[in-house]
Amino acid sequence: MSTILDVLTLAIASAHVVLAPYSKVEESFNLHATHDVLMYGVRPASLPNYDHFVFPGAVPRTFVGSVLLAWLSQPLIRLACLYHFVHDKSDLQVIVRLVLATANALGFCLLRRAVSRRFGGPASVLFTLLTCTQFHVPFWMGRTLPNTFALLPVNLALYLLVNRASNSTRPSESGLSAAMALLTFTAVVFRAEISLLLAPLVLQSLVCRHTTLGSVVKIGLVCGLSSIALTIGVDSYFWQQWPLWPEFYGLYFNVLQGKSSEWGVSPFHVYFTAHLPKLLLSALPLSLVGTLVDGRIQALLLPPIAFLILISGLGHKEWRFVVYVVPLFNIAAARGATWLISRRKGTLFGRLCFLSVAGLLAGNCLATVFLTRASMANYPGGHAMAQFNEIYGTRDHVHVHISNLAAQTGASLFLHTNAPPYPTHLCSSHNFPSVARQRHWVYNKTEHVAPSALGAAHDVTHAIAEVATAAELEKTDVWTAVSIVDGFDRWQLNREVLKGGLLDAAMRVVEMIRSPRLIILEKR
Ligand SMILES: *[C@@H]1O[C@H](CO)[C@@H](O)[C@H](O)[C@H]1NC(C)=O
Ligand SMILES: *[C@@H]1O[C@H](CO)[C@@H](O)[C@H](O)[C@H]1NC(C)=O
Repeated sequence: MSTILDVLTLAIASAHVVLAPYSKVEESFNLHATHDVLMYGVRPASLPNYDHFVFPGAVPRTFVGSVLLAWLSQPLIRLACLYHFVHDKSDLQVIVRLVLATANALGFCLLRRAVSRRFGGPASVLFTLLTCTQFHVPFWMGRTLPNTFALLPVNLALYLLVNRASNSTRPSESGLSAAMALLTFTAVVFRAEISLLLAPLVLQSLVCRHTTLGSVVKIGLVCGLSSIALTIGVDSYFWQQWPLWPEFYGLYFNVLQGKSSEWGVSPFHVYFTAHLPKLLLSALPLSLVGTLVDGRIQALLLPPIAFLILISGLGHKEWRFVVYVVPLFNIAAARGATWLISRRKGTLFGRLCFLSVAGLLAGNCLATVFLTRASMANYPGGHAMAQFNEIYGTRDHVHVHISNLAAQTGASLFLHTNAPPYPTHLCSSHNFPSVARQRHWVYNKTEHVAPSALGAAHDVTHAIAEVATAAELEKTDVWTAVSIVDGFDRWQLNREVLKGGLLDAAMRVVEMIRSPRLIILEKR
């Protein structure tokens, strides 16, 4: 049984990668950093080729996760090349993302074992089913967000805290220390907001006398200082700025200078009223049941709820800032669901309880099907690039200008399939068709180029333009539209089908509305 659950977790995380292989702008720093480490290596002479010197982003971010991901992916890329699974660079993006998804899925598999030990086998099954039928966490497990990198060590820490006998009243001294050390490391290197989860956890452990102040201070100092040394060492090198501690810089820039509010301010309650329901789906009501029926769950949920309240104090709110609480709420929900399904089946109440759990899981699946399909249609830049590479694959000289929207919705460096760098050190050319051809196309991402300037630029042969500016481009008589790429707008109820009332039309009751986003243009 436990093997089946582990395979299910891995399969769901991987399926999301394969179904939506492209990336968005939030992921691009870490994705491109991974690309650069893979392609150029980490020697000082390679650094000038790195993308972050051209497109640094609003604040510097850490390379620690990307370097580890690239190194972890390398042997797999070699293997995939050897067995002819790699056709061009875009396949490398899928491999890198699969490695990340697998690492995060393994975190959840480990956590499931701890749940099984502390709350019993049925709760661990429901924990996995709830996690796999949700959308956000499985979909993002393989996406190179800083928060995704942070999720793995946070889950390892949770594993250490939860993994104990069902009647144990205190976590083991060493488990608690290791968990605090992991969370300190994560807060220092990956995401500063983890400190808001760590603080209530430490406070709870001190109040319950699970640890002593002396030991907290010792772990904080030793682990905090060595993590700071690590991130300053690695990131000062890659950014060529001394000394650079990216998370501290981000904290200073976004929180102390209040820059994050420029991205938008939401009311205090938004994490509880919008983001948490979206992340948890039906695990939210189930977690309330879990909290009511089990004192251990109340103790478990105290730190994440304190975290949510603390982080609600920041004006700018995004679901990914609080993604770390999902595993804990899923444990609570699994406990609640276990209680519901173990009521006496003979009674009406017992049967209703059982049905409600089945119904809530089915509801999760339905919501996830729609969210997944919408997300798959939400990367027009990636689809446009794939189409472009396909259409002009036989040409030798191409200089394509890529609009901002295309760059933000999937046109990552891995999709520059007909331009250097070619990973000859990882894949020999006879295993890798596009390496053998070694074309030197130019994928030009220069921002703020006026449409007229684009027409006048003699070396530019093609453009992937936004629909809004394409009209202006086509007016100039220089361009021919070659292909149009749509993007997701919304779901709409299909009233015609409802009138017909056919059973087999059930799947078409809701239809996806798309609209043109990008146009591939060729110069006449
Ligand atoms: C927990 O239960 C096990 C077996 O049922 C028992 O051996 C152990 O002493 C119990 N521990 C505590 C802390 O009650
Ligand atoms: C990209 O396009 C712009 C605008 O046409 C041009 O100024 C720039 O030189 C191009 N970049 C490269 C690398 O060719």
